[in-house]
Amino acid sequence: MRLAKYLASAGVASRRRAETMIYEGRIAVNGIIAEKPEVRVNEGDLVTVDGSIIEGPEKKVYLLLNKPQGYISTAHDTHDRPIVTELVADIEARLYPVGRLDADTSGVLLMTNDGELAHRLMHPRFEVEKVYKAWVEGIPQKEAIDKMSRGLIIEGDKTAPARIKLIKRDPVKTTALLEIMIIEGKKRQVKKMCSAIGHPVRTLRRDSFAGLKTGRLKKGAYRHLDKREVNALYRLVGLQS
Ligand code: URA
Repeated sequence: MRLAKYLASAGVASRRRAETMIYEGRIAVNGIIAEKPEVRVNEGDLVTVDGSIIEGPEKKVYLLLNKPQGYISTAHDTHDRPIVTELVADIEARLYPVGRLDADTSGVLLMTNDGELAHRLMHPRFEVEKVYKAWVEGIPQKEAIDKMSRGLIIEGDKTAPARIKLIKRDPVKTTALLEIMIIEGKKRQVKKMCSAIGHPVRTLRRDSFAGLKTGRLKKGAYRHLDKREVNALYRLVGLQS
């Protein structure tokens, strides 16, 4: 990797600022002052800034967590409540969740330290598909489902079209199971959409995110995404891996 890029990915400075620092003679590779940003850095090389050793770029980690209910989707919580990062505490990297699931929502949650990918996956421009299963109060009629599919006004904004299927009815308990695919990720969006048609959510689970599912993962367990899955996410949001 080029030295300037290495310094930028290690968080020392922006690439342009790193180039200036190199020209100022402040960076050494294996004890020799680097003269140009094009100097190559290989694994195991010792890079210093003003004589202090810098750590190399953090290895990128991509996890799929089967989030249980009761966990908050933040990296830090100030109220001592259980947080999702505790479920991946054995991973050394500083991971954060890609988007948010409510504490009482379970299912697929990606965790990564790849900021650019995470940012794009959460951005509405890329229309990443999220599929939820919601048990709702009452049995929604076709008109209500059609209305939700076309888009509803919630807090002054119209929701994007969604794909909704009625999967099951339980006439005894008067509940129904809906499958809801949305391409947005506004706060509590699914709950608000269901309430807006008069069928509040009782339980909510995310079945898939960008096509990734929990499969046989137990609640609270995670797995690493494989190379093919990471590449597919990169392509989905217009990045090269
Ligand atoms: N929509 C919600 O209402 N809650 C979630 O956790 C995710 C989507």
